[in-house]
Amino acid sequence: KRIVLFASGSGSNVENIVNYFSSRSDIEIACVLTNKKNAAVLDRCDRLSIDALYFNRRSFYNSDLVCKTVGVLNPDLIVLAGFLWKIPQNLIETFPNKIINIHPALLPKYGGKGMYGNHVHKAVKENRETETGITIHYVNENYDEGAIIHQARTIVVSDDTPDTIAAKVHELEYEHFPKVIDKLLTDS
Ligand code: GRF
Repeated sequence: KRIVLFASGSGSNVENIVNYFSSRSDIEIACVLTNKKNAAVLDRCDRLSIDALYFNRRSFYNSDLVCKTVGVLNPDLIVLAGFLWKIPQNLIETFPNKIINIHPALLPKYGGKGMYGNHVHKAVKENRETETGITIHYVNENYDEGAIIHQARTIVVSDDTPDTIAAKVHELEYEHFPKVIDKLLTDS
């Protein structure tokens, strides 16, 4: 089974997923696609010997280049691991129910455009939530609105800060995301 990953940032989830499947002969990480030329995820790909491709906004949205490229890679699952752009409609149509995303909050709360990274954890803190977590869901044409596949929770205490919340949420991501991917690929 083949996975294509999309990432825009640091790529700690990408690295975690690559490491989780590194000993598995049945699962291949084919490539990482990014929209940020200098994203730290590219350094991780170099170190992990994973192919990586950069797309600028025009090539990402105004051409079927992404669809053709991903089509050639022919993945069983497309995994967004910290990817900040909307997925083009033609890719969603070409890979129905095969694109998943991880969001660092308990959707439907704290989702939508602009709700990423510490913006999410700041809002959770300001609203005095007593819990937060992660949501893994299918991707549709709107940010963070596809069918939910899996959620995991952690408590938020009064002396938590957005950074301490982020650390707890990252721990959940690293524990749950590869297992959910594994289950989706080995069940299908
Ligand atoms: C993670 O918090 C993930 O939930 C969100 O983007 C972040 C990516 O972090 N979608 P990293 O680039 O994997 O470190």
